[in-house]
Amino acid sequence: MNPLGIDRHPPRLSWQLQTTRRGACQTAYHLQSARTLEQLLNDQPDLWDSGWLMGDDPTGVPYGGALLVSRQRVYWRVRVRDERGRTSAWSEPAWFEMGLLLPTDWQARWIAPSTAREPVVGVCRDPVQRPPATLCPRLRHEFELPAPVRSARAYATGLGYYELYLNGRKVGDAVLEPSFTRFERRVEYATYDITPLLREGRNAIGALIGQGWWQGPPCLLVQLEIELIDGRRLVVATDESWRWSESPVLENSLYGGEVYDARREQRGWASPHFRMQRGEWRRTRCVRMPRELQLSARMHEPIRVVETLLPVQVSQPSAGVRVYDFGQNFSGWCRLRVQGSRGVRVILRHAELRHPDGTVNPQNLRTAKATDIYILRGGAPEQYEPRFTYHGFRYVQLETDPPDALERGLLTIRGLEGRVVHTDFARRGHFACSNPLLNQIQQNAVWGYRSNFHSIPTDCPQRDERQGWLGDAHMTARMGLFNFEAEQAYRKFLRDIADEQGRDGSIPDTVPFVFGSRPGDPMWSLAYPLILWTLYEHTGDLELLREHYAGVRRYLRALVREAPDGILSRCYYGDWVAVEEGTPKPLVATAGYALTARLLMRIAHALGDSREEDHARRVFRRVARAFHQAFFNPALGQYDEGTQASNVLALAGELTPPEHRATVLKGLVNSIRERYGGHLATGFIGTRFLLDTLVQYGQGELAYTVATQRTYPSWGFMIENGATTVWELWRLETGPGMNSHNHPAFGFISGWFYETLAGLRPQAGWRRFTVRPYILGDLRWVSARVHTPLGQVFCRWERQPSQLNLMLTVPPCACATLYLPTLEFQQPTVIEGDMVLWKEGRLCRSRPTIRGGEHDGHSIRFEIESGAYAFQVLGQGA
Ligand code: BGC
Repeated sequence: MNPLGIDRHPPRLSWQLQTTRRGACQTAYHLQSARTLEQLLNDQPDLWDSGWLMGDDPTGVPYGGALLVSRQRVYWRVRVRDERGRTSAWSEPAWFEMGLLLPTDWQARWIAPSTAREPVVGVCRDPVQRPPATLCPRLRHEFELPAPVRSARAYATGLGYYELYLNGRKVGDAVLEPSFTRFERRVEYATYDITPLLREGRNAIGALIGQGWWQGPPCLLVQLEIELIDGRRLVVATDESWRWSESPVLENSLYGGEVYDARREQRGWASPHFRMQRGEWRRTRCVRMPRELQLSARMHEPIRVVETLLPVQVSQPSAGVRVYDFGQNFSGWCRLRVQGSRGVRVILRHAELRHPDGTVNPQNLRTAKATDIYILRGGAPEQYEPRFTYHGFRYVQLETDPPDALERGLLTIRGLEGRVVHTDFARRGHFACSNPLLNQIQQNAVWGYRSNFHSIPTDCPQRDERQGWLGDAHMTARMGLFNFEAEQAYRKFLRDIADEQGRDGSIPDTVPFVFGSRPGDPMWSLAYPLILWTLYEHTGDLELLREHYAGVRRYLRALVREAPDGILSRCYYGDWVAVEEGTPKPLVATAGYALTARLLMRIAHALGDSREEDHARRVFRRVARAFHQAFFNPALGQYDEGTQASNVLALAGELTPPEHRATVLKGLVNSIRERYGGHLATGFIGTRFLLDTLVQYGQGELAYTVATQRTYPSWGFMIENGATTVWELWRLETGPGMNSHNHPAFGFISGWFYETLAGLRPQAGWRRFTVRPYILGDLRWVSARVHTPLGQVFCRWERQPSQLNLMLTVPPCACATLYLPTLEFQQPTVIEGDMVLWKEGRLCRSRPTIRGGEHDGHSIRFEIESGAYAFQVLGQGA
């Protein structure tokens, strides 16, 4: 990956060793970097020549060369020495380029239409009440380039959304830029290579600016930096010489949709030599933003149109009404192709559900109108897709105005496609197994996750919400990191959380803060330490822990101030949307408090800060004691009234003294087995910890039963009822109110598939990981693949009557601790490749890259170095 426009200093470099050799590892590396590719290839590393450095980690190596300045392009390459002392060839050259590092690098000024009042800086705090924005200006500017261009960049951002055009062509392929951040504090800019879009002579730049989550009038900030072939440098930046006019976008709103009048299009408005009508193209003005507003480079993948879906069915529930079914609930919008008479309107209503009569059912969208309207230019075929809104939907109802436009031949629909829109991170992991239901759950969870990442993790994409609710965010972080290359996006989100942290250390419910409370529900604010720790587990990045260490400590201290005796009674959501009511809210909040302390213990430990670790441990013990005292019900031997969530939170948080664990577990198991017939009865918080806790306490089979139910309440129940994503509620509801059909939180189970069924668990990044598959229920095989920064991790097991086969790939520079299951076999024999490793209760042979061999009755533990392995575990008589 060669990133353009980064503002992290020093940047960190990563590479991968390409080999399948067993035991392959790097022992030393040599980095070189230069200002130009020629210099690098001619062995003139003018920026940095590291010489040979000892080190076995090819990820996250800090650039150690000459100080980097804004805009600097750095070419680099690496070679490594392997475990046998052999030196590799130089890698293919790679590069990175710095963005604008100093506020003084910006000559551009924020501009807005002359009519705009001074912007109110910030995120719109009441999007539900806000009417659709009617101001969606287009801005333009022309400039002359006296010579051909050698290289050019655009640094651009907007408040709210912007689209940029150069000489009539859209710049970049991102949509819904910029990212959602706490706009009072930070706006992310993007860097584009615009070299191919410019030409000698006259050029034009155009922009369309919309509302998004921003609360003031739309503003734009653009700086083009152009280097001509003769070495001259030019800057073209937003200032009040730019002109603006009204655009064809009559209304734009995230919840409401877009109204677009193609009759107002002006051909060539973003091209040079365009003749601006007087009175129509007016002056812009510069607007002042507060000093604290920071411009940061966008260093995560942007939102893009990632896929186009064709309808699987088109129906006509009544005259003039067509309903398109895309067969999949997703986030995005439609691309419409039409031909017809000028002024005819096409109305697209998006919804997740249909009424029995076949028309769309928008009731669960609450106040979100989710309707796009296109007004035809007339004549030649036309194509439209909206730009400053998105919807969560499976069905689209197409109506027209006049209502009989189709029958009268005033309009022909030439096509309608679904455009899937979300943060465009690459796929990282794949999971499959022999149980088709689990595969379907995995697929739904992935669709749910995808449709709920729009530069922040959101709760849902369809109704009048779409917020960074922190409870939902921490529930999905683990599965997100297994399935997608979402690291950069979570780094950004952690910074968003830090931006929202109060002076008193508190963390709000939503980030950026729009809905909910501040301070937030403790089980929601838990996202700060929990996402941080999850990201650390997947990356091993201590820098990241350091960056947020003070913030997490301040957060725990805020809880300690609030609840010095350990019981935290402030709680808003409890075990949200649980089947079983009655879990006391203070119990849930206090468990969140304890988890926060435990996470800080781990973070402090990883950073080697034993004083802080001790402090957090003391807090944890105090909270655990108080929890047990306050909520343990000795008569029942369970917590409070013995709801599943009460017992799960106690066990998961290790809040139960050892002598009571067995009875608490028994209560939990009985509730699942007897009371709920093998079903869970938990909500967001209880469910998140239920499956892991059952496995941890030796109840893996029961966890599997819960995960594979097809009746209410379960994931399978959703699927039996036609779900293509994951619902917000366990029960089926389709009326008005809160019942999102695309709510990613319960999709966290996908993380459980990777960690428990395939058994893959990174420790501090993937350099050390554990492979401990649980062979549960009727599963015959499980396969999981994760493209880690070191290379591919792969695990596949297959069970036969008295045999278990396990294939494992450990990437170079990594090592795995494998707990090879021996099932119920009495005297298992273990073969790897063609060699018998274990027989008659002991290790008989060893391979240089497979060490250890200890049997604990359930599995044999081996330490495995990189390479591809094929194990067979044979029971007697096999
Ligand atoms: C959201 C949830 C969120 C919750 C807070 C809801 O409206 O959709 O997912 O976590 O509010 O309880």
